[in-house]
Amino acid sequence: MQEKLPGIQYELDVPMRSILIAPDELNARVLDLGRQVSDTYRGRLPLLISILKGGVVFLTDLMRAVTIPHEIDFLQVSSYEGGTKTTGTVRILSDLGSNIAGRDVLIVEDIIDTGLTLTYLLKQLEIRQPRSLRVCALLSKQEARQVHVPIDFLGFEIPNVFVVGYGLDYQEKYRNLPYIGVLDL
Ligand code: IMP
Ligand code: MG
Repeated sequence: MQEKLPGIQYELDVPMRSILIAPDELNARVLDLGRQVSDTYRGRLPLLISILKGGVVFLTDLMRAVTIPHEIDFLQVSSYEGGTKTTGTVRILSDLGSNIAGRDVLIVEDIIDTGLTLTYLLKQLEIRQPRSLRVCALLSKQEARQVHVPIDFLGFEIPNVFVVGYGLDYQEKYRNLPYIGVLDL
């Protein structure tokens, strides 16, 4: 798991206002989620689908906390087009490599904000007739929700602020930070 290395200094071109979730809190929660996922799917072979690019850091940590056999795949969508507000339009930029019909599918998302991206994804994946379809999200901003979405496994509920780090970006940057923080934009 990605620990903050002693003495490592991240170079930021925008100052960090505050750190919302520290690396050790993220690690502890991800281990817990891995245990929950393992317990839920024991005896099955779930397919963990990471939503690129934001969900990739979370997936790589989560999969090492999942102790049962499983497979992974990736799906790239775009909804933000670089800003800090959702545009409401979701596009599949790169589709899955696997056929999910009859599979136990777990969507691994970085953050559920308005819920529009996930609603679209659930609809698209449901059409392909998976055996089951669940959602694991690291973060949720309940206050920003425009549509209700079911979250089966959740890391943290956070306030309605724009966050970066641990996979989440602002204009494609800051995904490398080992914590969840708020930039001083
Ligand atoms: P939604 O469709 O509004 O729920 O947006 C979901 C997607 O927007 C997430 O998968 C993220 O890629 C992005 N997003 C939402 N909130 C944030 C944030 O605070 N920081 C970085 N990306 C975000
Ligand atoms: Mg994302």
